[in-house]
Amino acid sequence: MSDALDTTARGGTAPATAASDLAARAAQLDAADALAGLRERFTLPEGVVYLDGNSLGALPVGVADRVAEVVVHEWGTELIRSWSSGTWWTAPERIGDRIAPLVGAAPGQVVVGDSTSVNLFKALVGAARLAGHGRTELLVDASTFPTDGYIAGSAARLTGLTVVPVDPSDAAARLRERGQDTAVVLLNHVDYRGGRLHDLPGITRAAHAAGAVIVWDLCHSAGAVPVGLDEHGVDLAVGCTYKYLNGGPGSPAYLYIAERHQAAFDSPLPGWNGHAEPFAMTPDYTPAEGAVRGRVGTPDILSMLALEAALDAWDGVDVAAVRAKSLALTDFFLECVAAYVPAGKAEPVTPLPHGERGSQVSLRTENARAVMDELISRGVIGDFRAPDVLRFGFTPLYVGFADAERAARTLGRIFG
Ligand SMILES: Cc1ncc(COP(=O)(O)O)c(C=O)c1O
Repeated sequence: MSDALDTTARGGTAPATAASDLAARAAQLDAADALAGLRERFTLPEGVVYLDGNSLGALPVGVADRVAEVVVHEWGTELIRSWSSGTWWTAPERIGDRIAPLVGAAPGQVVVGDSTSVNLFKALVGAARLAGHGRTELLVDASTFPTDGYIAGSAARLTGLTVVPVDPSDAAARLRERGQDTAVVLLNHVDYRGGRLHDLPGITRAAHAAGAVIVWDLCHSAGAVPVGLDEHGVDLAVGCTYKYLNGGPGSPAYLYIAERHQAAFDSPLPGWNGHAEPFAMTPDYTPAEGAVRGRVGTPDILSMLALEAALDAWDGVDVAAVRAKSLALTDFFLECVAAYVPAGKAEPVTPLPHGERGSQVSLRTENARAVMDELISRGVIGDFRAPDVLRFGFTPLYVGFADAERAARTLGRIFG
């Protein structure tokens, strides 16, 4: 079934004029959107509304050609020479410096490689070692994405800490009241399921006042929400690059080590790539200076250089403008949902206050999986998280207001 604008055959309870009004508003908002032209930096299939960039970002133009060049020329022709003469060996720190401004970090503090899970392990054990002895607790976001909880459990066992689950909304208060035992805090900047944005500046301050080391997971904020790692004095952070940074499926993650901690950062995975002189091939381990000590083994060059090309999509883009558009998009989508979807059928889980909202809207509904399957079959791609949440991610670089309107209208029709 087509979901082209049709004001006579709507689902939902909107009056007959609502659809055309909202569609007209969407057109005006798109026309006035200073970021609208950025969509041309991406390859998106015709006729699809893509609202799953919080899971897998879209393909930026230029990536396919760059990957082909790396495969055919740098690997196929240059062979081993590309490790030393080309761009390969220094890619993790060079690409880290491309990500740094997107998360509010000065150069030299972000290194790319491995998965988020592996970087979490490095960060958590490294944080426990920075915190020193005498403290017993590792505070972990109780609603966290599962891998963070699993890795935290293992890091705690290795470092002699006890995991204490905490609701991120209560974390600052808990740290103020009982923070003397806290060694390390691990929280998500934006919750993956509900899209709630947590108070990174306030909780970081509370952790430091308590004498704890804080690790932030930026998977659902970097590229959509200003993070301000340096400004807010964050100690360590990790994040993936395949969501709002559009690095591609399984693209390498990153680790942020604040400059003031680098000399003391003791990675639990001291691979040869993190050595001060990797080609000296010495039996003893001397960590490299700076964030480079966060490297482990041979970088995944194909994915890494695809990510580097993908980051061109950010050239000249201001994260504050991205945030402003993200909030406008999610506000407008929520308004459209209220107009098109019958009351009680799909209730927002994502907080309405801007200060508590990431770049996604989650709606709770019955039969969420079936509803999302139907949406996808009608060309609106979001995703579903068990048991009852529909997620719609808004990537301001390539999503427009007409997309938001069409997605809500299509949802309304499914319920109508
Ligand atoms: C908040 C969060 N942390 C960690 C991960 C897992 O990352 P990886 O698969 O790169 O280890 C995800 C994946 O979606 C995530 O959303």
